[in-house]
Amino acid sequence: MLEEDSLGVIHFNSMTYTAKTFNLPTLAGISEKQVAVHLALYEGYVKHVNLIMEKIAVLKSSDADGNAYIIAELRRRFGFEFDGMRMHEHYFSQFEGGPIPPTPGSALEQAVSRKYEDQGLEAHIREVAGSRGIGWVVVYADPSADTLHTVFVNDHELGTLAGLPVILALDLWEHAYMVDYVPAEKKNYIDAFFANINWGVVEKRFEVTT
Ligand SMILES: [Fe+2]
Repeated sequence: MLEEDSLGVIHFNSMTYTAKTFNLPTLAGISEKQVAVHLALYEGYVKHVNLIMEKIAVLKSSDADGNAYIIAELRRRFGFEFDGMRMHEHYFSQFEGGPIPPTPGSALEQAVSRKYEDQGLEAHIREVAGSRGIGWVVVYADPSADTLHTVFVNDHELGTLAGLPVILALDLWEHAYMVDYVPAEKKNYIDAFFANINWGVVEKRFEVTT
């Protein structure tokens, strides 16, 4: 929403998102420089979520009809920036308090056993992570069917499952590991991801959905 102050200056007055801070331990196999670069990129997504909302409001207020194509393209862009923001929040918070191994007999383990049987969740995620392209491996819970889905999401927003809560998010953009590994070493980065993850966070995300 735009407001004009006493000096006639137009201000954009709406809620804005603030970048979260994460209490990250030292990670094995993922350097501090890599984490710093990645966090800065996350903050960029937060900035651009706010910027898109602001630009749409400004364009609408100045000439909604004349700017219709620009506004429409900004709206298409919003999912990329928003999911880029939110997916990184899922990603970084998985390392907080870690590494913690999975809890034997947890509700998540039972759901994993029903869905993936002997393969297990980590092995299945590694299988999906072998997909070509940049994006994410995302594990969703589907409480309505009492099951899980593990999918490859292109960019941040293409292939997401509508309305399903994210249980685990593995960033497979090259920016997530390029400081420490070359693309051919993606597997080493995935090893590091699993070496640092706090499965307690993942299990808790699942438990609140059931
Ligand atoms: Fe990322």
